[in-house]
Amino acid sequence: MRLKEKSPCKVNLLLNILGKRPDGFHGLETVMQPVNFCDELAFMRSGNGIRLSCSEKELPTDSKNLIFRAAENFLTTANISDGVKIHLEKKIPLAAGLGGGSGNAATTLLALNELFGQPLASEKLCEIAAALGSDIPFFLQDKPALATGRGEKIQPFENFPALKGKAFLLIHPGFGISTPWAYQNLARFPEALNGKAGRAKELISKLQTNDWPGIADALYNSLEAPALEKFPILGLFQEFLRANGALAALMSGSGSTTFAICESVLSAESVLEKFKSKFGENCWTAVVPIS
Ligand code: C5P
Repeated sequence: MRLKEKSPCKVNLLLNILGKRPDGFHGLETVMQPVNFCDELAFMRSGNGIRLSCSEKELPTDSKNLIFRAAENFLTTANISDGVKIHLEKKIPLAAGLGGGSGNAATTLLALNELFGQPLASEKLCEIAAALGSDIPFFLQDKPALATGRGEKIQPFENFPALKGKAFLLIHPGFGISTPWAYQNLARFPEALNGKAGRAKELISKLQTNDWPGIADALYNSLEAPALEKFPILGLFQEFLRANGALAALMSGSGSTTFAICESVLSAESVLEKFKSKFGENCWTAVVPIS
């Protein structure tokens, strides 16, 4: 049997860091929004061991890849000695703050559980996911969510009314930002490092309304402090997008992707045309409707 699955990405509508924890991770509150722009994964039971292939030659296909580690962890935990073949068609940009790798790992856990007859309960999958990476539990479900802890504690919400019928414009500048780098460099920005809890709840309540100036004001990302200082072009992107028809613009996760929220797909396409005539054609871009 062969299983084909889509592996979506996310943006962080808010990422508020609440200080460094004794274990080296950062406490945070984040509002994560699924984005229907997907990698494609194919899974097949085959022989023994894990064989991973990938359309993107830059990516490792051994235990350095989260898909490989997710599969390994799944097979060991479920006590399965059979092997799997996995193929990844990569469409989501790398080191982009869009959670592509985390989503791939979660999709792998869900797909293997299906392929092998659901040997693991969803609590167990969540446990494996959290051990593999802070963002991975979010991708085990498909709703917007408030994530707390180091990002692994998920409280799902129904789709936010403010986003209904709107569209994302995603812009990746052609360079990535390493997540550990962004967190380490936050140390130079004490205010951004030690945010006050409560901003997430405030944003979530605004997202039930259609008060766009208010929502745009409540979008926030602590990791912009180091990222926009090192890469000022990302700040210029946001200013341009806001001045040229976007309802709001922010960096997602640890960057480097900037996302804009636009009134409709048509509006996002028109903002994108203006963006290209100002900044050229070198960025990776996508327009994605929001359901
Ligand atoms: O958990 P994940 O593997 O995604 O984290 C990657 C890196 O990002 C960690 O090694 C750590 O440097 C940083 N991080 C953090 N606090 C978090 C999440 C990630 O410091 N809450």
